[in-house]
Amino acid sequence: MKSVVISLGGSIISTDRLNLELMESFSVAMGDIKSYDKFGIVVGGGKLARTYISDLKKYNVNDNILDEIGINATRINALALTTFFDDVNSKIPTTINDAAEMVHNYRYVIMGGTEPGHTTDTVSTLLAERIGASILINATSVDGVYSGDPRADKNAKKFDRLSYNDAIELSIQNSKGAGTNTFMDITALTIAKRSKIKIFVVNGLNLDEYKNILYNSKCDGTLIS
Ligand code: UTP
Repeated sequence: MKSVVISLGGSIISTDRLNLELMESFSVAMGDIKSYDKFGIVVGGGKLARTYISDLKKYNVNDNILDEIGINATRINALALTTFFDDVNSKIPTTINDAAEMVHNYRYVIMGGTEPGHTTDTVSTLLAERIGASILINATSVDGVYSGDPRADKNAKKFDRLSYNDAIELSIQNSKGAGTNTFMDITALTIAKRSKIKIFVVNGLNLDEYKNILYNSKCDGTLIS
């Protein structure tokens, strides 16, 4: 049984509104893939999560509760995505254990977050590790991993390949300072390293990227291995 995990970043799923066109075309693209038997799909919170969290932060709401709110946003987005698939779970699993059991029953298992203190980056690597997926596709709104924020820094360089250690070092650098955002959190990269899960960081709006990875193990983004 060959399985893959795809992390669909909130930034491509939930912008000003839910990106239903992408959800539909993504489901059609996945339906065409014959090279894999099982698909774990982890969905981020996007604008839905950010709006609730940033509004409630102004009222000094406890971070643990803000994380719970973020988790619920990811699960709403995950449930919305299930409606575009056949042979998929109808309830959103709340733990990796439950998701792993569902993988026996469905070709596609779609979930959001699990518990406070991390993001869906970590959930997706834990799921990949658990179900024995050797590759993880991290579908984001940027076309790979850069040395800096490509939107703010015109000199930022895109990496075609990164070792796990270099990716971890870069993630640590990016995480310094309040309000910073990194391409993938350190825990997620550490889990990928220990289980040798290859991570493809790609522009998730480009459907050719998924096919190229799943058939040829190649992408126009960044491979972390
Ligand atoms: P995301 O995984 O979408 O966070 O979860 P993110 O990476 O910060 O957002 P994008 O994808 O880059 O836009 C949204 C929020 O939900 C909570 C966290 O607060 C996270 O920031 N969350 C999510 C958890 O606490 N635990 C989880 O397992 C998942």
